[in-house]
Amino acid sequence: MDLFEYQARDLFEKHGVPVLAAEVVTDAADAAAAAERVGADSGGVVVVKAQVKVGGRGKAGGVKLAKTPQEATEAAEAILGMDIKGHTVNAVMIAQGAKIAEEYYFSLLLDRANRSLLAMCSKEGGMDIETLAEERPEALARVAVDANTGIDDVTARRILTEAGFETSDVDAIAPALVRLWDVYKGEDATLVEVNPLVKTEDGTVLALDGKVTLDANADFRHEGHADLADTEAADPLEAKAAALGLNYVKLDGNVGIIGNGAGLVMSTLDVVAYAGEEHTAGAATPANFLDIGGGASAEVMANGLDVILGDEQVKSVFVNVFGGITSCDAVANGIVSALQMLGDDATKPLVVRLDGNNVEEGRRILAEAAHPLVTIEATMDGAARRAAELAAN
Ligand SMILES: Nc1ncnc2c1ncn2[C@@H]1O[C@H](COP(=O)(O)OP(=O)(O)OP(=O)(O)O)[C@@H](O)[C@H]1O
Ligand SMILES: [Mg+2]
Repeated sequence: MDLFEYQARDLFEKHGVPVLAAEVVTDAADAAAAAERVGADSGGVVVVKAQVKVGGRGKAGGVKLAKTPQEATEAAEAILGMDIKGHTVNAVMIAQGAKIAEEYYFSLLLDRANRSLLAMCSKEGGMDIETLAEERPEALARVAVDANTGIDDVTARRILTEAGFETSDVDAIAPALVRLWDVYKGEDATLVEVNPLVKTEDGTVLALDGKVTLDANADFRHEGHADLADTEAADPLEAKAAALGLNYVKLDGNVGIIGNGAGLVMSTLDVVAYAGEEHTAGAATPANFLDIGGGASAEVMANGLDVILGDEQVKSVFVNVFGGITSCDAVANGIVSALQMLGDDATKPLVVRLDGNNVEEGRRILAEAAHPLVTIEATMDGAARRAAELAAN
């Protein structure tokens, strides 16, 4: 899960990373009062910053300096509602203004290819770090970080020295890097990026911008992380599926897909996309990913169907189940009772392909139930073609 800058800032503060006072407002009418409080120690100077989960806000006009509360209101009015690379700005952060002497770059991320963590650091941070990384990669130090040691004082100094900092700066910045490691480890992040990390005119080191990605697999260890989710931006069907504990990803096609096991569902998406191309000239494509996992009880099947049928784009549903530990008769009974539970809410044709453990009995149960919406197909390819044709017509 990617966080907004203000959420990253709050986590930085919690772990002792030096940040500036800030407040978030969603209504420009609140900007002036916030600017007065936040700017109290900086001569009234604040920075109004768009809160969107996309880079390049400054260049898009989403970061504005304001010298008075009146200017803060004007800046908030200009930025709220703005579209930055397809993201609508619903909130701005009003941050205390800093007198920047130098802008640096620091990030720590999971380097999957090298099976380690990677710290990146540069004396030349700010808005053009992407260009710097491309044109002068030598100006961006890359230091592997052992996850067991993390960034202790020695490692922090090594990273900063590699980046070319002088000793006095190394002394000043190293503690901030150690704290940023606390954020990374303590919050189970997969990315912590600070751009810019600055030195002010009086020599203070500050994190002026923060980008944090949290590892959702560790959510169970962090009670507070659930509150960080951006429920407003979430797709309503995905939100509903998440609340039901389903592994669902909305796509933009018209063939709903339910399967058991992530691998089988992924290949079902491929087969449906292929069948749609081959037999309907591209008029049928997958509408979603939904893995109902091992159990496939009637309730899980009903919940899954309920979510998929709630997708207005869906014209047909392909249920592709391979009976392993859960046998096909249990799955067939699940489908039959799910359709009973849904009653009149089940409105779209279902193509079912069952195979594996106790398949004969599973097919017999479905045939006997003879539900008008259900078609049974023997093979995955045949079922994909049938579902695609039903969706296209
Ligand atoms: N509190 C502040 N006081 C003074 N200047 C600031 C402050 N915050 C940001 N700036 C200036 O604005 C520039 C852009 O800010 P920031 O890094 O937050 O946005 P951005 O880099 O454009 O956004 P993104 O990181 O999403 O691409 C900074 O490089 C810095 O020069
Ligand atoms: Mg930035």
